[in-house]
Amino acid sequence: MTFLFNSDARRGAIFANAFARELPDVPFTIDAATVDPDAVRYLITWTAPEDLARYRNLEILFSLGAGVDQFRPATVPEQVKIVRTVEEGIVRMMQEYVTLAVLALHRNLPGYLAQQRAGDWHDIPQLQAGSRRIGVLGLGQLGQAVLDRLKPFGFPLAGWSRSPRQIEGVTCHHGELGLNEMLTASDILICLLPLTEETRGFLDANLFAKLPKGAALVHTGRGPQLDHEALVASLDSGQLSAAMIDVTDPEPLPAGHPLWSHPKIMLTPHVASVTQPATAARAVIENIRRHRAGLDPIGLVDRSRGY
Ligand code: NAP
Ligand code: GLV
Repeated sequence: MTFLFNSDARRGAIFANAFARELPDVPFTIDAATVDPDAVRYLITWTAPEDLARYRNLEILFSLGAGVDQFRPATVPEQVKIVRTVEEGIVRMMQEYVTLAVLALHRNLPGYLAQQRAGDWHDIPQLQAGSRRIGVLGLGQLGQAVLDRLKPFGFPLAGWSRSPRQIEGVTCHHGELGLNEMLTASDILICLLPLTEETRGFLDANLFAKLPKGAALVHTGRGPQLDHEALVASLDSGQLSAAMIDVTDPEPLPAGHPLWSHPKIMLTPHVASVTQPATAARAVIENIRRHRAGLDPIGLVDRSRGY
């Protein structure tokens, strides 16, 4: 029952050490070329290899990250469990990134950077945190962690999910009606939705129009959720004031793409969270133990929902 690690050797070595220490009865390899495909029961990878079908006895396909859209879950054999990796490193880094983005947008950093480039020294009117409403699309592991980290600043906090949720200190919305209620009261909107057929193209002109004029966007979900042209048009019209964008479609963004140079956009190359191998190995080992004990792994993907 081999575990195959299909990613970079540096992180593979950290996983290998953890497996040798914690799960010595599970042979570990990073060498897909020499492994007996019939022995592979567990595979961790970012994208599913073209020849996934050769692992006929595969039991769990682990994503190296929190998202699984890159696997196209519908194409993975039915008997294989798809499991995402949400480990403390991913969670902590997402909390850091979204806090950075919210504070930068709240304190008008894009405007001050433009003023610096123009040699212009004057203050921009500043709202207090209690008057800057934050809305988070997606109340999963990351959406909730981010809201938790934002609490001490005093922003009014809201979130939206598919099913009803109750989170202390957060106004929770769900469904179509709930979405409209949240959008009309979000001065900074954060997207932490998984990419599914329902959320593809979700951040579009229609959605931006429902936000208060001058609202800002933080996008840390997936690139194909964002209508890039609609974003630029909404920034140019003033409907949106600024955006911090971590994910685009395609990635990397091609040279000359308008998002690179738009003065109201702060852009990062899909680095909001990066899987940390030591903590990820712990999470994966724990999940293999659960699976062997007949329990569902943490982060098991529900194929009918696509996340
Ligand atoms: P999660 O725990 O699966 O939570 C997903 C949340 O989205 C849930 O609250 C879910 O609602 C909600 N949702 C999904 N589809 C919806 C829909 N159609 N309408 C309304 N709500 C919907 O996921 P997570 O761990 O928080 O991660 C979220 C995403 O972050 C990942 O899928 C990935 O794409 C992205 N991510 C990005 C980075 C980066 O570096 N940029 C890093 C890690 C993750 P329910 O609660 O009702 O199920
Ligand atoms: C990164 O984008 C992840 O899904 O972990």
